[in-house]
Parts: sequence; structure tokens; C-alpha cells
Amino acid sequence: MKNFRLAAKTSSGLEQILAKEIKAIGGKNITLGNRAVFYEGDLEVIYKSNYLLRTALRVLKEIEFFRFKNVDQFYLKCKEIDWFQYLTVDQSFVIHSTVGNSKDFSNSMFASLKAKDAIADYFREKFGKRPNVDTENPEIVIDLHVHGDSCTVSLDSSGESLHKRGYRIKQGEAPLNEVLAAGMILLTRWKGECDFLDPMCGSGTLPIEAAMIAHNIPAGKFRKNYAFENWRDFDQLLLDRVKQSTEKKEFKYNIYASDISGSNLLNAQTNARRALVFNKIKFQVSDFRNLKIPLNNGMIIINPPYGERLKEGDLDELYGMIGERLKHQFTGNNAWILSSSMESLKFIGLKPEVRIDLFNGPLKCKYNNYRLFDGKRKELIK
Ligand SMILES: C[S@@+](CC[C@H](N)C(=O)[O-])C[C@H]1O[C@@H](n2cnc3c(N)ncnc32)[C@H](O)[C@@H]1O
Repeated sequence: MKNFRLAAKTSSGLEQILAKEIKAIGGKNITLGNRAVFYEGDLEVIYKSNYLLRTALRVLKEIEFFRFKNVDQFYLKCKEIDWFQYLTVDQSFVIHSTVGNSKDFSNSMFASLKAKDAIADYFREKFGKRPNVDTENPEIVIDLHVHGDSCTVSLDSSGESLHKRGYRIKQGEAPLNEVLAAGMILLTRWKGECDFLDPMCGSGTLPIEAAMIAHNIPAGKFRKNYAFENWRDFDQLLLDRVKQSTEKKEFKYNIYASDISGSNLLNAQTNARRALVFNKIKFQVSDFRNLKIPLNNGMIIINPPYGERLKEGDLDELYGMIGERLKHQFTGNNAWILSSSMESLKFIGLKPEVRIDLFNGPLKCKYNNYRLFDGKRKELIK
């Protein structure tokens, strides 16, 4: 099968994890970018990328790369592309652009507009009519990446962002993006080799993604469709084969999810039911302060409040309590905490072994690892 140049977009800090995932599904010539991983692969790799990658937000297939001297030449080069290979006059389309370091385009809207004119004129001259733009529900999604005097034109194979797995109906207060949650879990290297606990689970994103990883449930299992299904070369049999080729994994340990709020826990349970992992997670309403779970050598991931709704003093107290509980109740486990509140993280009172920079939406965060060793290595707990 023909190989294409591909780019998978992700969240900042997850590039290496995504590259590992891409290697595992057969991607070739993998290189890391900024919030993106570049690689090569055939149609099967494109389908697998969308269906299996847990840390990709979208997957682009490059169709053209060119340089241009001015806006007129940009328009002409866009019009020279053989668009009929990629869309018909009856299909709707949309163009998403990003522009950087360009003397010709001060904003991405202008680049999209010029490319749209070029596509419309290409079709009008060839067929006497043109395909329509649909920003809500486009059948074909075109991606333009303008950097300086160069432009990469790609087809977006995903359509709606891949973090929309299709299982979430309840949002909760500050839910993690599913791609970030999966990335946080994979960064710990946890794949189901021990118990897992999220004691502040909110709408349940971390335990649900953990259950999907532990049982090898594909990221796209509940997703209804992808943009590549509207491509001219769409191969339904190949997609069916990709979907049938994943095997469920046996998981011998427990996934625990708890939260102080009963209504948040209900949201988590509803989402878990939708993801068909409800009976794979042990839920309970509990203040972390009082939580007792027989966890040994387990993995704990906490996404505590960052303070948007709490007073500063309360937040320090909360983080102090988390550190104290980890130290005294959860010795012998491995804990990771994600927070944008650098000041509050100090109140954890433990020395992180690893600090990773991540973004939760627009919020710059630290993702800290605390090894809660007991016995001989107790000196690690301060
Ligand atoms: C940032 S949200 C977690 C969001 C979650 N990761 C998600 O994807 O939906 C923080 C959660 O901590 C919970 N929480 C706050 N204080 C707590 C405590 N003392 N014990 C247990 N949970 C607590 C809140 O109810 C809230 O659901």
C-alpha cells in the first residue's frame, strides 16, 4: 500500500508518549515536533492511528507542500492542486489554517479564505459548479499550515478531535481532556501491572481511561465516525479489519475511583457505564482525608482542585492533607499529582522524583511523581 506523510497532533508534553504509541501501530520514520509527531504510514496506519492512539488529538495526511512569494502565488499554488482526487463537487468542506512567521498572512482566516477561493475556482472552471463550505458538519476537513513562505496542505483524517471518545455525557466541574488523562497514565508507565487509584476522580476520566488501557479497549471503541470515512479512497473492509484486530487484555488488579462529592461520583459512574467499564472500577464517595484502601505497590494519580473555587488558605490545607495522607496512609505506592498551582504543590511536603511540564487546557501545570517508599528507602519521604 502507498505510504503517506502523516502528522498526529497532541497536547504539549505528550509528544514522546505519542511517538511510542505510533511506533507500536507500525508508523515509520517517526520524528518529534512541538505538540505534534511526524511519521509515515499507509491507509491501515491512518485508520489505526485514529482508532487506537490514546494520546493523539487528530491525524493529518499531507497532500501537498509548496513555497510561495506572495498571496497571489499562494492562491495559484492552491489552485494547482488536483482537488478532485480529494473531494467531489457534492461534498461539503472546511479549511482550518494555522499561520506563523508569515509576511503575507497576518491571520489564519485570510489564508483559509484564499485557499477556499482557489478550491472554488478550481471546481468552477472544471465542472461549472463548486462544493459548499460547511463549518458545522463538513465531510472533508482540509488543514493548512503556513510557516514563513512555506505551506503544507493536509487532509484531516479525524474530523472531530479524537479526545471526543464518545463515552462522556457528564462533564463535572473541571474534567480532564481524555487525551491528557490517557497521556498522564501512560507517562507513569502504568499499563495494568498493579492497582490504580484516583481519589479525586471528578467525572472519572482517569479511572475510565485506566480501565480502557488495562483491558486494551481501543480509544475509538465508542466513536461513531471519522473524517476519513468520507474520503474517495475509503476502504470499509480495511477499517472493519482494523477494528476486529484488537484483543482484550486480562487485568488482574483493581481500579479504585473516589471523590468527596456524591454528584461527581454519579457523573463518573454514568460515564463509566457508557464506556462499558462500570464493573471494572470500584467507586466510593469519600473525603481523601478518610479514604482507606488496601493499596500496595499501586499507582495513584491525583488531579486535585487548582483553586479556581477555593480560597488560597483552603487550597494549601488541601494539598497539605494530600501529602500527609500519601505519606502515612499510602506508603509503599507510587503517586503522581497534576496541578497548575505551583505554590500549593509545595504544601504536599514530599520531594518529587520527576517533574513534567504539561498543559491542562490553557493552564501550565506540573505533573509530579512522588515515590512513597517504605522500609529501607524511607529516607525518600521527607
Ligand atoms: C479538578 S477536579 C477532578 C477532575 C477529574 N480529573 C475529571 O476528569 O473529571 C477535582 C476533584 O477533587 C474533588 N475533591 C476536592 N476535595 C476533595 C477531598 N478532600 N477528597 C476527595 N475529593 C476531593 C472534587 O470534588 C473534584 O471532583
